[in-house]
Parts: sequence; C-alpha cells; structure tokens
Amino acid sequence: MIELCQVSKSFDQLKVLDHLSFKIPKGKILCILGPSGCGKTTILQIVAGLLPIDEGQILKKESIQSSYIFQEPRLLPWKTVRENIDFVLPASTHYLEEKISFYLQKTGLQGYEHYYPYQLSGGMKQRVALVRAFVYEHQLLLMDEPFQALDIKTRNILFNQTHLLWEETKNTIVFVTHQIEEALLLGDEILVLSEKPTKVKEKLEIHIPRLQRKIDAPILQDIYKKVMYSF
Ligand SMILES: Nc1ncnc2c1ncn2[C@@H]1O[C@H](COP(=O)(O)OP(=O)(O)OP(=O)(O)O)[C@@H](O)[C@H]1O
Ligand SMILES: [Mg+2]
Repeated sequence: MIELCQVSKSFDQLKVLDHLSFKIPKGKILCILGPSGCGKTTILQIVAGLLPIDEGQILKKESIQSSYIFQEPRLLPWKTVRENIDFVLPASTHYLEEKISFYLQKTGLQGYEHYYPYQLSGGMKQRVALVRAFVYEHQLLLMDEPFQALDIKTRNILFNQTHLLWEETKNTIVFVTHQIEEALLLGDEILVLSEKPTKVKEKLEIHIPRLQRKIDAPILQDIYKKVMYSF
C-alpha cells in the first residue's frame, strides 16, 4: 500500500531517519516499536504527508485517506466533545449518528458530548481523539501510542475496539507503541527500530489469527524475547 524507500530525515544537524526502508502492507496491522526519540512520530507524520523528507521516496499506489490519532489528543479548546468529533466529518453527519454514539458509548463518553476539553481528564481527551479517528472515513489509520493515558480497563476496551474495527473494515493500521504485548496481540508485522540515526533493526511477522492469540503462548513468548533482545 505504501512503501518507504531509503528515507532520510534530519532536523537541523540531528539525523533522525537514516535510509529507512519498509512497507506498510495493505489491509494489515503494522506495529512499530523503538526507543523514545528514535523517530516513530516523525515516521507517522511523513506517512500522513505532514512532514517532508530529505532523501528517498514514499511510494503510494493509490490516493489514500488517512485518519491520525496523534500522541497528544489535539482537541480544539473552544469546541465541545461532539463539535470536536463533527469538525473532521462531512457537513451532514446524520448517517454517522449510530457510529458516533456507538463509539461514544464504548469509550465511556456518553453524557459528556457537551463538555469542553478543559472539563475533561487527559484520558477522556485521548478517548475523544480515538472516537474522532474511528468515525472519520479512512483506508489508513495511523495510531501514535493511542492508549498511553488510559487505565487498564479502558485500554482493554479500546484495544478490542481497534481489533474489531479492523475485523469490520480490514483497513490498514500503523500502530506505534512502547508495549510489546500490544504489538504481539495486534500486529501482523512488527518493526523494531534502532536508536538514531534510525534504521529497521528487526522485522517480525505473526501469522496466528488475532482472535486466537494468547500472550503466554510459547510462540508469542518467543517473539517477545526476540523483540526484547533486539532493543
Ligand atoms: N519539529 C522538530 N524539530 C526538531 N527536532 C525534532 C522535531 N520533531 C522531532 N524532532 C526530533 O526528532 C527525534 C525523533 O522524534 P520523534 O518525536 O519522532 O520520536 P519518537 O520515536 O516518536 O519518540 P517517543 O517514543 O518519545 O514519542 C527526536 O530526537 C526529536 O528531538
Ligand atoms: Mg512519538
């Protein structure tokens, strides 16, 4: 679907990405793990077309609509929860009503539609950003540590929702996380990145159907170890 070929990116004198190459396979979930500051957010911004590259190529076969869950919620402070969701959607959202209320309910935000961001906790803001990204029509979903501000219960609910959303749409997802377990349970492929200047250190594929994965299964534990040792 998208291929990064020999992509390099520096910020002033700081070389972040160093001839980085990998593919984002269509209809699959690609998880990216790597040390803090190695350039994961930079990669997502490049894929979303928000940041230019210095060298290399981004190959896309078709025009792709992407939905982006940023590392921070990025809500408009003068808009309510519902207005922040509607803001990214087409003018008329009546056909999306069911979907919006489904995800508001799943994220525990029902009843908070009229709240402004300053009236929400950090995790609630992140959940609004998740609803907004889920309901926006997309073929590619970019998720930058989307569950980091959430408690375990909400994290599990939204993790499962991401999973179900994928089952329903089979859209492509790029999922950045620091949690190896999340990558093992969700990813078709896992990319482990090096320290800066960043290259791909390890690429692992998981062929077990997502619904059958158990984190303590020996095969996933072996992959867990490979990821740990490659850090
Ligand atoms: N706009 C910018 N200007 C200057 N330097 C930047 C900019 N954006 C990112 N960087 C630098 O690029 C490097 C990679 O940053 P990035 O945010 O992509 O890392 P990351 O892998 O997402 O880290 P984390 O896991 O902590 O979120 C960092 O050293 C950061 O200081
Ligand atoms: Mg980041």
